[in-house]
Amino acid sequence: MAEKFCVTTPIYYPNDIPHVGHAYTTIVCDVISRWNKLLGKDVYFLTGTDEHGKKIQEVADKNNKKPKEFVDELIPKFKDAWKKLNIDYNRFIRTTDEDHVKNVQEVLQKVYDNGDIYLGEYEGLYCVGCERYYTEKELEDGNCPIHKRPAILLKEKSYFFRLSKYKDRLLEYYNKNPDFLQPKKRRNEIISKVSEELKDFSISRTSFDWGIPLPFDSKHICYVWFDALLNYYTATKDNGFWPADVHIMAKDIFWFHSVYWPAILMSIGEPLPKKIFSHGYWTFNKEKISKSRGKIINIDDLIGLTGNCDSARYFLLRQTAFGEDGDFSEEALINRHNNELLNKLGNLVTRTSTLIEKYGMTKTNNHFKIDFDLIKKLYNNFEFDKVLNEIFSFIDSANEYLQNKKPWETKDTKILYEVADSIKQLTILLSPIIPGSCKKIAKQFNFKIALDELNKPLEVSKIKKGDYIFTRVELPQEKVNKPEPVKEIMEGVGIINYEDWTKVDLRVGQIKKVETIEGADKLYKLSIDLGEEKERTILSGLREIYSADKLKEMKVIVISNLAPRKMRGIMSEGMLLAAVNSDESKCVLVSISGDIENGSKVC
Ligand code: MSP
Repeated sequence: MAEKFCVTTPIYYPNDIPHVGHAYTTIVCDVISRWNKLLGKDVYFLTGTDEHGKKIQEVADKNNKKPKEFVDELIPKFKDAWKKLNIDYNRFIRTTDEDHVKNVQEVLQKVYDNGDIYLGEYEGLYCVGCERYYTEKELEDGNCPIHKRPAILLKEKSYFFRLSKYKDRLLEYYNKNPDFLQPKKRRNEIISKVSEELKDFSISRTSFDWGIPLPFDSKHICYVWFDALLNYYTATKDNGFWPADVHIMAKDIFWFHSVYWPAILMSIGEPLPKKIFSHGYWTFNKEKISKSRGKIINIDDLIGLTGNCDSARYFLLRQTAFGEDGDFSEEALINRHNNELLNKLGNLVTRTSTLIEKYGMTKTNNHFKIDFDLIKKLYNNFEFDKVLNEIFSFIDSANEYLQNKKPWETKDTKILYEVADSIKQLTILLSPIIPGSCKKIAKQFNFKIALDELNKPLEVSKIKKGDYIFTRVELPQEKVNKPEPVKEIMEGVGIINYEDWTKVDLRVGQIKKVETIEGADKLYKLSIDLGEEKERTILSGLREIYSADKLKEMKVIVISNLAPRKMRGIMSEGMLLAAVNSDESKCVLVSISGDIENGSKVC
């Protein structure tokens, strides 16, 4: 029987549609789930919504709706967002689901019966946004540190959970299980806070009624966090997936998961989850993602940037190490889409399939082997940025190999087989992160996405060029990040960003043929070897400056990714770099004298 594996997202508050922050956690869990499926495990991936509590009641009131009616309208939008991001979950749990309500009441009764719940009175400073009380020390000038609005003074009769009783057991558990809370720096924060003091916490409310009634006192409803954490147990207690292998969330709610949740489980005698991992927080162009400041990006905006959900999935995992904070920018996403997904992966796939369609391929032993053990280790440690680094350097090697071996000249179709087999290996290992694109590549190259295919030779089959997997995206001008103010010396020269510079692809080219064009006194038609299958045609206004003889065999620098332009009925496929003096009376081509192959990158 396959090993079981369970991964969970937090259950999100359906007070609004989800944004890029929620998407991030959900994508990460999807990647973890897909990776473990690839390893052959029986995976259960749980996500859902946290629907009770004062926060939801307040927004529903504002919208003149009953809370249940309000959330019922939002849930399809969450499900739709996850579908658009290709999230393949097993259950979307809602805390209003019948089995969850029943489970919460059963657990409350059990905890009450064993003496861990008692009636007391609570007075404290409460933040409705967080649905929790704060101590004065935790507030910033009386404001909630997360929502930046005043905490309100609440006083109510309330049932309490004896959290203090579990202090020693929790600390002992953390110490005996060093990998239970991750990453390390946040684990240490939890340990030091728990060591300081652990107070009992209030688990019931009487001031409003949108929640699950306590089975032993129906005037009280259950505190939303006690209710919410139990979702993990509701969904898995009867199907063999408890304890979960990993709960993923951001640092904002790490405390609830690391302290309240294990203590509740200890109280009912259930095993603890194996790992609780907190990632960082995303900002949007360096500002907090917040609706009130308009710094928010919803799922349609996110996917709409490139029209491909895989670009968003790739960007979010590549941009920052898992566990660290990250900054989201539309510009950075589009740049990664163009420069990495399109220029590296897309280019390799298109080039290889075009060549195979034309010349076929011949089976041979492919000595390029991706380092599976390393990639496995990185995935299992949630080091997704490093997984992508490894796979993309493998892509770079495959592109270089093709470029150096020039199978279009040598007609050595064994080279094409080796590259196609390399594409197979890297696609299988990329599939948890960009599943849609990998599925297309696998279909095109006729292999299955499965680990045992990694070492099987690729079947020689008819491979066709196929549709482009990624297409170039221009960044709308209004979305370009304005550069920082610059020193006087740079004023007036039209500053560009580093990202702009990296878009220019400069290559060493060698002029092979120089022809004149009838009726064009200034132009030459040049044929230039850029190490590509075919020489490029470039029209250049050099006729009054250089003789044809002087130009022949000269090694020049070509802007190779300039959009082609028709001049005099001829398509010009690039431009040459030249130095021009201030009154434009002199022009000298920039040329290369060293020994380097045509097509080499100038950087
Ligand atoms: N309902 C609770 C969770 C209960 S789990 C038993 C809740 N909901 S939430 O809608 O506020 O979601 C918080 C989670 O959303 C974060 O922990 C994180 O997973 C994700 N994120 C929301 N905004 C985010 C960022 N700006 N950056 C990263 N993750 C973000 O808390």
